[in-house]
Amino acid sequence: MSKSNRQFTLAARPEGMAKLSDFKLVESSIPSPKDGEVLFRNTLFSIDPYQRNLMGNGSSEWPTINVGDPMGGPTIATVEESHNPDFAVGDNVQTWTGWQDYAVSDGSDLRKLDANAVPLSTALGPLGLPGFTAWYGLTKVHDFKPGGTLVVTGAAGSVGSMVVQLAKLRGLRVVGVAGGPEKTAWLIDELGADAAIDYKAHDVEEQVKRALPNGIDAFFENVGGPMFPILMEHFNTDAKMTICGTISDYSDTELPQGTNYLPRLITLIHYRFVSIKAFATPYVMDKIPEFLAEVTPLVAGGRIKYGEEFVDGFEKLPETLLRLFDGSHSGKKLIVRAA
Ligand SMILES: NC(=O)c1ccc[n+]([C@@H]2O[C@H](COP(=O)([O-])OP(=O)(O)OC[C@H]3O[C@@H](n4cnc5c(N)ncnc54)[C@H](OP(=O)(O)O)[C@@H]3O)[C@@H](O)[C@H]2O)c1
Repeated sequence: MSKSNRQFTLAARPEGMAKLSDFKLVESSIPSPKDGEVLFRNTLFSIDPYQRNLMGNGSSEWPTINVGDPMGGPTIATVEESHNPDFAVGDNVQTWTGWQDYAVSDGSDLRKLDANAVPLSTALGPLGLPGFTAWYGLTKVHDFKPGGTLVVTGAAGSVGSMVVQLAKLRGLRVVGVAGGPEKTAWLIDELGADAAIDYKAHDVEEQVKRALPNGIDAFFENVGGPMFPILMEHFNTDAKMTICGTISDYSDTELPQGTNYLPRLITLIHYRFVSIKAFATPYVMDKIPEFLAEVTPLVAGGRIKYGEEFVDGFEKLPETLLRLFDGSHSGKKLIVRAA
């Protein structure tokens, strides 16, 4: 256990893809909690695509952190000292304090966790930001009708795999898009998707036609990139699209070269009355209690499946984040354990 407070700060805004030298390991003294505050030690760190957006210099318009500040992100922590009657030493909490061993809080941004109900790590995955993102995007943005066909990209990722399962529970026909035969098999055999498209295979357009005999009624976009122009041709009249994210372009600093599909997309929106909406979870956090009330019993009862990959060592945080963008990521939720 660390006796000082290790932090990974942002050393520089990345030029395109993030690299290890964009982070700096610094050590400082452990902060002291004031009256009303708690001191906690982070034990599990969530690795998520939007952390690239926090670093700046990419395609996103999200607010960025300052150079010199600790990297942001959700963590699971244990309370070590409490001057707040709502928290006791040993309590497990979910925090947003990012890449540092220790932090203090007045408790307003902490969620208490019950390790006996569900594994603590689920508060970073199916019962954390990825699960909330999937649930909110599926239920609160458009009214996706049961019986229609929903396509979700990044379907084997943390958000996408939840979308697949929650959409099935809502009676939609679900088609997942993912890279590679192992992921597409997992989508169908384990998560219950009705069909899956391996976008890395040579026959992707044939697969799309086979998987979508009745077109697309609902579309949940996690990835962006070259699959979208192929899929958009299958939009039905009144199709509804929810933009959750476009991870494939987060490191881009220029527009992609090649065919300009924008006029064709506008034609589809115009003549097929396609409705496109987007959402951002930081603006809708007040819906988290409703999400937890619905999804916690599904996770506790084993009705939601999820994959996790643990990486040991605080010092592995930067390299683990880079794995999200270098093609080596298995699709399982990446969690770094402080060691
Ligand atoms: N709107 C919001 O508030 C909100 C909140 C949280 C997350 N999000 C977004 O939701 C999306 C999914 O997040 P997640 O946590 O599920 O991510 P994830 O677990 O890392 O999954 C993303 C998947 O995208 C696929 N992918 C395709 N092209 C990629 C590329 N160029 N680089 C990296 N991955 C690529 C990968 O699967 P394959 O190998 O199958 O291609 C990857 O497994 C992201 O766009 C994220 O930014 C939005």
